[in-house]
Formats: sequence, structure tokens, C-alpha cells
Amino acid sequence: MHATPPVIGPATPEQFGEILSFWRVAAAVASTTDDLSGLEVLVAHDPGALLVATDAGGRIVGTLIAAWDGWRGNFYRLVVHPDHRRLGLGRALVGAGETRLIQLGARRISLFAVGSHPAAVAFWDALGYRRDDDDVRFARNVVGTQKR
Ligand SMILES: CC(C)(COP(=O)(O)OP(=O)(O)OC[C@H]1O[C@@H](n2cnc3c(N)ncnc32)[C@H](O)[C@@H]1OP(=O)(O)O)[C@@H](O)C(=O)NCCC(=O)NCCS
Repeated sequence: MHATPPVIGPATPEQFGEILSFWRVAAAVASTTDDLSGLEVLVAHDPGALLVATDAGGRIVGTLIAAWDGWRGNFYRLVVHPDHRRLGLGRALVGAGETRLIQLGARRISLFAVGSHPAAVAFWDALGYRRDDDDVRFARNVVGTQKR
């Protein structure tokens, strides 16, 4: 970690714009719901799901969506700023997300990693998440573009 470790907590609406800018520069891929409306719907449905890590200057250096739908926990948008990688922040974000989801009642947490990104795959392997090689993901964008 840096001298002052980033602080992890729920995002505020005032941070949504900065989060979207952060994803544009630091995320591995663009996502269909990377817009203001997507974030507003998320936090209206599941308040507290959008976690951010901020540095001592208040800048966003990490994010994780730890979403609870009443049946499963799902992780999305785990992103750590390039200057803060390999310092344990990704692990800390996932720890915070797991704590939240367990408190809400989750017994299983799923996520999709970008298979062509070795760092992402190595990260989830290191954290003890197991691949479901038998599961095949099906997806369809019912509105809008063909992003993920
Ligand atoms: C994947 C990502 C979130 C990891 O964040 P991070 O803060 O660097 O991860 P941590 O420092 O907590 O790493 C925890 C462990 O994961 C593994 N790991 C992380 N990055 C790795 C890499 N580039 N190569 C190999 N192993 C890696 C290591 O075992 C590491 O422990 P160690 O540093 O003690 O060896 C970050 O690289 C990132 O934001 N990448 C771009 C977006 C992305 O791909 N997100 C994941 C989408 S599913």
C-alpha cells in the first residue's frame, strides 16, 4: 500500500462523473451501462453496491460493484488505478465487497473476468475464486450498443 492506504466506501452521487472518467482510462473494457443513468439505476436499486477507493487527496483510485439481487452476489467493475496496482487494493476492494454481500445474505458470489487479460485471471485465481468451466455465459444487449 501507499503511505496512506486508500479509503473504501460507498460512492456518492457527486462522484459518479469521476467514476465514469476513471473507468474510461483505467478499465480493461467499456461496459454497456457505463453512464450516469446506469449508475443512478444501480444505486437506486441496491444502495451501497458501488464501492470506491479514494486516496488521501480524495481522488478515486479503485472501484468495485458488489451487487446483491436477493439470490446471488455479483461483482462488476473491479478497477484499480494503474499507479496503485500490486499494492493490495484490488484484494481490499474484494474484501469489502464480500463483507457487504455476506451481510446482505449472499452465499455465493460470481463474476466474469476478461479471459484475455492475464492480470484479471491471475488476480481471481490468487483470491481463491474458481472457474466454472462447465458454465457458458449467454448475454444479449436488449437496449443500446453491443458493448459488454
Ligand atoms: C486486476 C486488478 C483489479 C488487480 O488489482 P490490484 O490492486 O493490482 O491487485 P492486488 O494488488 O490486490 O493483487 C492481489 C494478487 O492478485 C495477483 N495479481 C494481481 N495483479 C497481477 C498481475 N498483473 N499479474 C499476476 N498476478 C497478479 C497477485 O497474486 C496479487 O498478489 P501479490 O501482489 O501479493 O503477488 C488490476 O490489475 C486492474 O484494475 N486491472 C484492469 C481492470 C481489470 O482487468 N479488472 C478486472 C476485471 S474482472
